[in-house]
Parts: sequence; C-alpha cells; structure tokens
Amino acid sequence: MSQAEDHESTRRDFLYYAAGGAGAVLTGAAVWPLVNQMNPSADVQAASTLRVDVSGVETGTQLTILFLGKPVFIRRRTQEEIDAGKAVPLSDLIDPTAENANLAPDAPATDENRAVPGQEEWLVMTGVCTHLGCVPLGDGAGEFGGWFCPCHGSHYDTAGRIRKGPAPQNMHIPVNKFVDETTILLG
Ligand code: FES
Repeated sequence: MSQAEDHESTRRDFLYYAAGGAGAVLTGAAVWPLVNQMNPSADVQAASTLRVDVSGVETGTQLTILFLGKPVFIRRRTQEEIDAGKAVPLSDLIDPTAENANLAPDAPATDENRAVPGQEEWLVMTGVCTHLGCVPLGDGAGEFGGWFCPCHGSHYDTAGRIRKGPAPQNMHIPVNKFVDETTILLG
C-alpha cells in the first residue's frame, strides 16, 4: 500500500465514523485475523497520523475508530472507572508493564501510566485482544468492569489491563496526545 493510499483509507475510515454519528464503527467480537497482513510498512506507519475530534464523547462512553488498519478505543472514563483502576495493586496484574508507546518500555502499568498524560479520564488503546487478536467488547464488559474478549474469555479492567484469561498483555496504547482541548492526535 502506498503512503498516499494509506492516507486515503485512513481518511475514509474517519469519514465513515463521522457519518455514523453514534460513535462506534466496530462492535462485537469480530475476529481480526488480518492484523499482521494489514500492517503498513514501517515507513508508512511512521508518517501516518490521524486527528480525532472527541468533543462528542460523553463520560462513560467509548468511540471506536480505525487507525492504520486496527480498531482504536477512545474511552472517556467515569470517576468510578478511574477510581477502580487506581485501586488495583500492581502485584495483582498479569502484565505489570504499561504497554504504552508514549512511555518507556518498562513503565509500570499504573492507572496513571495507562491514561492520556494529565487527562486521566481518557483512555486510548488499540482495541485488539493480546491473545489472538479479537476485538474485545467494551462498556463495562467482563468481570473487571472494562472489556471482555469472548473468543477465549479474557477480562480487561477499567484501564484496559488484562486481569483474567489467556491474553498475556494489557491492551496496547498507541502514540497519542491531545493537541487541543477536544482533539486527540494518533500517531
Ligand atoms: S483472542 Fe481474546 S481471548 Fe483469545
């Protein structure tokens, strides 16, 4: 895929979301078998970014968009979800690392290190189960109030950290930051 094509498909994906209005483009436990094949080459990946307007995302809801061929969950967490995430001792975690591309590889998986820096209500994650690549269900699904992958039963908490089931890692956090009050820049 050329760089131009990649930009074009990203724009299409975003327009699709924008036209959808209600938010979620992807729901359910769709298997994501082509993740690796769909990955753009490293040079395209490095050049690709996407600006996402999150002004319409209400507290307690999630927006799902496509970015570089993968779903990205953008959740505006409730205070209860934040408090629940902060209350978890690191010793309870299956994967103790933040899996956050914005931080050092060995950064601990505290709730703070999972959220957007300085914006603890916002959680931005690649919405791909780290077991075999299904798209987990959100909106408080699973035993830990976060996400649940029904493919083989992986439970993620309100910070997207794996807490039970076969998935080995927390859901990954892509490079992202707020560039103004209502816009997140991915990539
Ligand atoms: S792919 Fe999610 S539990 Fe297996």
